[in-house]
Amino acid sequence: MAILVCGGAGYIGSHTVRQLLAAGEEVIIADNFSTGHRATINSAVKLYECDIRDKDALLKIFAENQIEAVFHFAAYIEAGESVVKPLKYFNNNVYGMQILLEAMTEAGVDKIIFSSSAAVYGEPERIPIDERDATFPVNPYGDSKLIMEIMMRRVSAAHGVRYVSLRYFNASGASEDGSIGEDHHPETHLIPLILQVPLGKRDHITVFGTDYPTPDGTCIRDYVHVLDLADAHVCALNYLRGGGSSDAFNLGSGHGFSVKQIIDAAEKVTGGKIKIELGARRPGDPARLIASGDKARKILNWAPRFDDVEKIIATAWNWHRSHPHGYDD
Ligand code: UFG
Repeated sequence: MAILVCGGAGYIGSHTVRQLLAAGEEVIIADNFSTGHRATINSAVKLYECDIRDKDALLKIFAENQIEAVFHFAAYIEAGESVVKPLKYFNNNVYGMQILLEAMTEAGVDKIIFSSSAAVYGEPERIPIDERDATFPVNPYGDSKLIMEIMMRRVSAAHGVRYVSLRYFNASGASEDGSIGEDHHPETHLIPLILQVPLGKRDHITVFGTDYPTPDGTCIRDYVHVLDLADAHVCALNYLRGGGSSDAFNLGSGHGFSVKQIIDAAEKVTGGKIKIELGARRPGDPARLIASGDKARKILNWAPRFDDVEKIIATAWNWHRSHPHGYDD
């Protein structure tokens, strides 16, 4: 039986497809290429170019293939954009989940592994963040991920579809061979933006806020390597195969790094000074987000390999240096 990867041409989806193939799984990709990249697609993988809001297209995939489980990466991800375009997020993310779950229940596909986000917690009540902590998103993107989790929970209770919801903290890095990596348009994430400075694509990196209640005044985040996220999906699949019950798990390293610390680490990796400008806070940024990753380690047997932020940045640098214009190179 095969794994259907919705959004398999995106950043985290494409790395997960590779890990699934390496684990000997049969993989089928569904992607509408609205943000994904054709260059990530392995020609040995069966591809359906379709939108998850197209139920007939999903039912066709389920009819033509023996699908054991769905991995769902096909969602919009920009928190800032979601504030000004909330309906775009509710349509693709929430309505997309609605159609996907309808098609799965009609076709009798009963396992789903879902890309959730630390954004479901909003401004955390304590650090490190535990899965039992309150979920109170502060933007429509976080709302959409939380609603999608609730939809899976209710459908699980009513129709027996089991799910694992993986709440990613700050996904970063790239494949070790530098062949696939992060390529968003526009790019808003810290590490790729920093690396654009030594690439000569931007003059400086702006630090968004220097007056946070943190040791150096800049925001602290938990950076987790994309390959470790991909591994967690394989662990989650095995967990569901072993009869595991539906649940949500944080995916983070458990360590926090400030914006300034990330810039310092990037200077070490790239071997040069990176010009910074001190700017205002970006609205909606919590001061500190650090995961407790204990639950995923214990229950999913997840063992993240990248515990060193310089190593994470080194993989990103390897990718960006060899693909300065992303997949357009
Ligand atoms: N930052 C800067 N300058 C920049 C870009 C970012 O200082 O040019 C700062 C941000 O203010 C933040 C940190 O770098 O403090 C990390 O920012 P990112 O945009 O890389 O990541 P976020 O923490 O904002 O977002 C991540 C995911 C989102 C998810 C969120 C959960 O990328 O998808 O975590 O809170 F919603």
